[in-house]
Amino acid sequence: MTGDTGKNSLAPDWYAGGIEHVWLPYAQMKTVSPPLPVVRTQGSRIQLADGRELIDGIASWWTACHGYNQSHIRQAVERQLRDMPHVMFGGLAHEPAITLARRLASLLPGDLTRVFFSDSGSVAVEVAMKMAVQTWINRGLRGRRQFVAFKGGYHGDTTGAMAVSDTEDGMHALFAGLLPQHYIVDLPDSEEHAAALDNFLGTHADGIAGIIVEPLVQGAGGMKFHEPAVLKRLRAAADKYDLLLIFDEIFTGFGRTGTIFACEAAGVTPDIVTLSRALTGGTLGLAATVATRKVFETFWSDDPAKALMHGPSYMANALACAAANASLDLFEREPRLQQVAAISSALLRDLEPCRNLRGVKDVRVKGAIGVVEMERIGDLNRLRARFVEEGVFVRPFGNVIYLTPAFTIDDTDLTRLTRAVAKLVGEGIG
Ligand SMILES: Cc1ncc(COP(=O)(O)O)c(C=O)c1O
Repeated sequence: MTGDTGKNSLAPDWYAGGIEHVWLPYAQMKTVSPPLPVVRTQGSRIQLADGRELIDGIASWWTACHGYNQSHIRQAVERQLRDMPHVMFGGLAHEPAITLARRLASLLPGDLTRVFFSDSGSVAVEVAMKMAVQTWINRGLRGRRQFVAFKGGYHGDTTGAMAVSDTEDGMHALFAGLLPQHYIVDLPDSEEHAAALDNFLGTHADGIAGIIVEPLVQGAGGMKFHEPAVLKRLRAAADKYDLLLIFDEIFTGFGRTGTIFACEAAGVTPDIVTLSRALTGGTLGLAATVATRKVFETFWSDDPAKALMHGPSYMANALACAAANASLDLFEREPRLQQVAAISSALLRDLEPCRNLRGVKDVRVKGAIGVVEMERIGDLNRLRARFVEEGVFVRPFGNVIYLTPAFTIDDTDLTRLTRAVAKLVGEGIG
């Protein structure tokens, strides 16, 4: 690891004694800058061990949508911890999970009413893919095992999820031989691409179980946006060729794009939806794969072989479900979508001027997501360190600088974030 944080005399003992034993995410361990030791988080602030406080621009990969250490969520988790932190979900049930399933079913559009819990987004995607393939097997069609997914898409880091991802930096390319082959095609974001998709499905639909897409925003693949019309076209194509439509709302779900779920913007209901990230308000790992009644009914049988064979150890963890219920309370009680709209206007106003700066390829905003796409970013480590020097935590990747703040961030902190972005882009970072 480069940089001096590991050797820093201000680094706490736990850090110096243990950092050599951890393997960090998405990092070349030899050259990565050491992670910053954090001792406390509150609202949109991250407090470092050396006393510095950073304004958080990305809300821990956009999980902490209500800000950190939110008191209502914390109290719900504390109450649940006293009674029962966890109990296995096989053969046993508990109130936080059953209540959460009911609430998700009523919040989601259409008859997305059957909730399968898991513990991370990637696993929720694996479950969705298994559900889709088995739906056809249970209907007597064994040949439908492949998926159509999209260029620039990202659905997670487990094997099945990697196989339907197409990240620009090719972070999954090394595993090409290991991964099942699916079809990664252009999003139908133009008449030409829509015709190409139709053509493709016309010849291949017999072998395809479903179509998987991140609705409205392709996140980790480059923070690219598309119009709701794309989702309408996908629904029409799935109906025409009798395919299951899976929306991966792991990034977009719970307000990020301006509606509670991105699919609402298109008035389209998928057959299966995956949720995670902001589900617990950034408190604990939890994910859900939610199916329509029609999908669920293909598993409903006297035949044990038609059951969905999946069940993670920490499925429907009671603490995580309590946190998720508390997070949903906050969406009900507090003006989250108005806050998203206000953040959206501020991001647009304050980031748009970056468009005129040297090296900027595009500036775009959707809901509480602000993106400044560069032609290139020369030294990511250096840029990330410069943000810290400016008192903010922002983690550009690839050629993209993005902000996904907590919905509760105040105007002053949001302005400090956008100013830091504009300042560093203005300094020239190519
Ligand atoms: C759209 C989408 N799907 C799936 C995942 C994977 O989720 P997890 O990191 O919880 O496994 C992510 C994570 O960024 C995501 O953005």
